Amino acid sequence: MVFFWPSTAIVFHVAGVVIPSSNLKNLKIVPMRPQKDKSILGIEGTAWNLSAAIINEAGVIAEAESSYQPLKGGLHPRMAAQHHAAKIEDVVSRVLDKHGTDISAVAFSQGPGFGPCLRVVATAARALSLTFNIPLIGVNHCIAHIEIGRWLCGVDGPVVLYVSGANSQVLSYRDGRYRIFGETLDIGIGNALDKFGRHAGLQHPGGPKIEQMAKNAKNYVPLPYVVKGMDFSFSGLTTAAKDALAYASLEDVCYSLQETAFAMLVEVAERALAHIGKDELLLTGGVGANQRLCEMLNMMCQDRDASFFAPDKKFMKDNGAMIAYTGLLMLNKGATISIEDSAVRPNYRPDDVDVTWI
Ligand code: ATP
Ligand code: FE2
Repeated sequence: MVFFWPSTAIVFHVAGVVIPSSNLKNLKIVPMRPQKDKSILGIEGTAWNLSAAIINEAGVIAEAESSYQPLKGGLHPRMAAQHHAAKIEDVVSRVLDKHGTDISAVAFSQGPGFGPCLRVVATAARALSLTFNIPLIGVNHCIAHIEIGRWLCGVDGPVVLYVSGANSQVLSYRDGRYRIFGETLDIGIGNALDKFGRHAGLQHPGGPKIEQMAKNAKNYVPLPYVVKGMDFSFSGLTTAAKDALAYASLEDVCYSLQETAFAMLVEVAERALAHIGKDELLLTGGVGANQRLCEMLNMMCQDRDASFFAPDKKFMKDNGAMIAYTGLLMLNKGATISIEDSAVRPNYRPDDVDVTWI
């Protein structure tokens, strides 16, 4: 990857793709602003969704996105990166056109995620930081899913169920870190649904299609329920669901897969609430869009007099606003990074992050 920066124009060479930034080249370079009325530009692009947003303390000001949709099969990291490289100028320009270039910092998803995708986003963020002479902030994608949920739902110290394609974790903040109380031992719940969906002939992403199919089910088909202590596993369950298609209808297997997998998540989330002594549960991550999962979690919370919180779907899936908002929290604590320290972190865990803003 080569990056160079002639005068105010920005050119990215990423994975062999050249992105001349014609729109950006007319933008003024602004001096470092006093940190008042801060507007933060956030760029997300760890996997399927390239998204930019500008936020301030009052709310989301501008958003733009471009999703990578594979024609067949699952997400291919290099293909997704090429999509991001081709679209990043347009996505960033759309939010800057709407808000103007008077921004206080640029935050980007530093990890976890696909290396090639992370590098496209990091390259753009570095270029914008240098062009506008504003701080650069490397945001942990998982923490960003949590922080946007806490912000939009107005919840302070919840147990968090974070369920997405690659990740499935139960976390809660304690003593400067989000601690992981339980997590998947193999694949994320979203990947499990998508893998089963592909096997059953459903186009990626399978999660939403499985949710629709499950609504027309007639029977529950027994499938392996795998909770080990506070951890769970979805790989064997996915294989068993694929095998069940030999003797049960697709609708019944979709329903049974959801009921089994979601019950495992509910069990661990409930045990975390009980052990830690909390009475607030926050749901986040793309799989949080599933209504049946919300219903099951809400029922569990009602049974134990706890409150259940879930932000709007559009802020549960990957989005630029969550990166911008977490960037704002980090900027307020001076958690900015130099270009030299901005290497991407494909395996960046949420419990690696010093949470200085709580
Ligand atoms: P992460 O890096 O946090 O793992 P991600 O790249 O998986 O994020 P998200 O947008 O957080 O992206 O989650 C995408 C996942 O959400 C996909 O696996 C998709 O199938 C799943 N999903 C989306 N909508 C639904 C739904 N209604 N029911 C179940 N799963 C869903
Ligand atoms: Fe995500």
